[in-house]
Amino acid sequence: MSFDTTAINQQRHRFEGSKSVWLFAYGSLIFKPDFEFIEVRPARIHGWVRRFWQGSHDHRGTPAAPGRVVTLVPQADQTCDGLAYRITPTVFDQLDHREKNGYLRMQLSLEFADGSSNAGLVYIADASNAAYLGPATEPAIAQHIAKASGPSGTNRAYLLQLAEALRLLGKRDDHVFAIEHYLQQADAS
Ligand code: SIN
Repeated sequence: MSFDTTAINQQRHRFEGSKSVWLFAYGSLIFKPDFEFIEVRPARIHGWVRRFWQGSHDHRGTPAAPGRVVTLVPQADQTCDGLAYRITPTVFDQLDHREKNGYLRMQLSLEFADGSSNAGLVYIADASNAAYLGPATEPAIAQHIAKASGPSGTNRAYLLQLAEALRLLGKRDDHVFAIEHYLQQADAS
């Protein structure tokens, strides 16, 4: 698959008649909502985990030295906490551009804090995309993140802002917090 998923995403969903759509956010879309939204609520999805397995050529790294950013990986019996934004379909033009480095829009079910659920869309970068980096140990991911940066800022800031946003939501993510710990340990040594 090409590096740029914009054109694929624009063919993917028909929003005729929908005034608004739920978007599940689990990475930078949580801590950097630079798009218009109607409302936002804490939400979770079932059967997926957040992992720093996606390469970033355009935001937190470069094609020559990609950063590591999060994607979702299927894992039965696990949940991933994040935010659900209700947006108008036109906002996807901006989001498809922002998430173009390997992410595809997928439909899934979001669960809100009151137990109710709704269909929504989420950007997922799976193993078939050209920027995918895949698994590594958490200390190795922290070392990688410590060195990378790109047009949107340092990879370190992406990790630390995501960890902080999850704490503010009162949610824990052992993978994210372990990488944050290894990064801070390396800083202190
Ligand atoms: C997301 O935040 O939902 C997608 C991944 C990212 O942009 O970091």
